[in-house]
Amino acid sequence: MKCLILIYLLAIFVSTAYTLRITDCQVVILGGSTAAFSAAVASASDGVKTCLIEPVDWVGGQMTLSVPAIDFSHGEYRKGNRTFPLRKYSTMKENNTPSFYEAIHLSPDTGKCWVSPTCYLPKVMLDKAFNPMEKALSATLRVFRNSVIKRAKVEGDTIKEITVIQRTPKASTKCDGYDKLLHESLDDWYSESESSRFNKQVLTFSDAGVFMDASEWGELLAVTNAPYLQGIAEKFDGDTSGQGDSVCGQETTFTFGQRITNDTVKEEPNPYPVEHPEHYGFRSDRKWERVWTYRRLKAPKWSSKAQIGDITSQNVDEGNDYPFGYLFMSKEDALKSVQRDEWMGGVNIETIRGAELLAVGWHYWFKNQSSTTWGDRLSLAKEVTGTCHGLSKVPYIRDTRRSIGIDDFVIKIENLIGDFTISPVAHVFYDRVAIGNYPCDIHHMKICKYPPHMKKYDTLPFFIPFRAMTNKAFKNLIVAGKTMAQSFMSNSAVRLHPIEWSSGTAAGISASFMIKNNIKSTREVLDRIKDLQQVVAKYTPIKWNIEGKYYPQE
Ligand SMILES: *[C@@H]1O[C@H](CO)[C@@H](O)[C@H](O)[C@H]1NC(C)=O
Ligand SMILES: *[C@@H]1O[C@H](CO)[C@@H](O)[C@H](O)[C@H]1NC(C)=O
Ligand SMILES: *[C@@H]1O[C@H](CO)[C@@H](O)[C@H](O)[C@H]1NC(C)=O
Repeated sequence: MKCLILIYLLAIFVSTAYTLRITDCQVVILGGSTAAFSAAVASASDGVKTCLIEPVDWVGGQMTLSVPAIDFSHGEYRKGNRTFPLRKYSTMKENNTPSFYEAIHLSPDTGKCWVSPTCYLPKVMLDKAFNPMEKALSATLRVFRNSVIKRAKVEGDTIKEITVIQRTPKASTKCDGYDKLLHESLDDWYSESESSRFNKQVLTFSDAGVFMDASEWGELLAVTNAPYLQGIAEKFDGDTSGQGDSVCGQETTFTFGQRITNDTVKEEPNPYPVEHPEHYGFRSDRKWERVWTYRRLKAPKWSSKAQIGDITSQNVDEGNDYPFGYLFMSKEDALKSVQRDEWMGGVNIETIRGAELLAVGWHYWFKNQSSTTWGDRLSLAKEVTGTCHGLSKVPYIRDTRRSIGIDDFVIKIENLIGDFTISPVAHVFYDRVAIGNYPCDIHHMKICKYPPHMKKYDTLPFFIPFRAMTNKAFKNLIVAGKTMAQSFMSNSAVRLHPIEWSSGTAAGISASFMIKNNIKSTREVLDRIKDLQQVVAKYTPIKWNIEGKYYPQE
């Protein structure tokens, strides 16, 4: 008997040591995106206990992990003798979230690249801006790094609990656990068992007032089996029936850094097979030097030429953009993996492998294109991504699983476009909580056919409504970033850094607003939308400033 009790006690000890129960987060954010970090910063700044679950060890999403060059709206519209300078409006301080503006001020442009006014090294953004922001909020913000979601418990229209696996690299694991390509590592990330490279800790998060899906892969939507849209499964813009092709969408890209040194660097030849040599090339207007300076992150001085000391980041259509497979498994297969408790992100590992090999091949092809100029002076700049292999820890993605909001709400393309000579801003939603602007930008997959309505639209300065941050099945679920309730086309214009940050901030404040006002359901927030807007406006603009006038003018 004594022995049995001992075994029983031991079992309890082992299992409780193994699963850590965390019950004191008021807002739990499943992160990975730029919106996740801005939401966490906003909610924690508003005084609410916030827990952010990050799949990797760097916060910031696309701002640090894959595309450290801010994609502000570009170009200008012309009609008759009138012009409408979008780049000017979208870069103005008044039209950006103050915390975003502060971050890009703390990590200013060092690249003199031509895609953006702000190109920087990710590590500088982390050290100067994001990590200090996190530290300053340590009373209310806790970040769980290297952590992925495994499953969730729901009860009716409420998410009760999520289970997360946190991995800690062992002392012998190189590059803080980023020694292997993602396709070789992902199953380990999602496994509860200790491996040769990682120790594991299972964490459960419960008793939170709000759960937020601000993950890159829309994983909370998938593991709770919430209604969501995926890929181009839309018969018309904003169709929520979900019928159609859910394994076609936008291209996925593994980005990487390169540098030019004065000394030659001996790099090993490409260790991987080149599966699509025909893919690599330049558009006629995109010669080697144009690609090099496109997302250049560091340059000793301004020059349209490549120079010794330059560091650049590669993210190029005919280079590392992967057009041969979609990142996400079909909705049916994703549901099966949830039901079998075999969740591993719901992604297609073959696509990840193919995209990683395509990116490595692009490095070698691109380098070889310049053999006469730089040749052996060009090498991978691994500190850009913080991995042993040089590729980004996670892929850059342009679309993901997208929520279907309250009353089937999704942002439609007609809400984002218009004629600037009639109104300088797009549709004014009554429940607007953020602003943004970018043109629709689809990177088409080669193997897919796109319906005719998926074409290029020019957008006006637009608004993001609170309804886009809801899900019709779960009253305590908020979505942020690319998971918002929006059509495929709308997402293609909303997915960029400044808009993820502004809408993420609004999502974070919406969550803290629910906690502070003891609001249990996103639908109730709509009844108090004016109150929410008042608070949100302290953190991020909900009006556009255009030529000194505010829109909407009320
Ligand atoms: C632009 O054209 C309109 C009519 O076409 C004219 O009334 C106006 O004076 C013009 N403005 C400028 C700045 O040329
Ligand atoms: C490159 O190295 C040479 C020889 O050591 C030196 O003279 C030159 O100044 C260096 N150039 C740069 C840009 O560092
Ligand atoms: C580099 O380019 C040359 C000339 O186009 C070609 O012959 C060679 O095979 C290329 N090498 C690699 C490693 O791609």
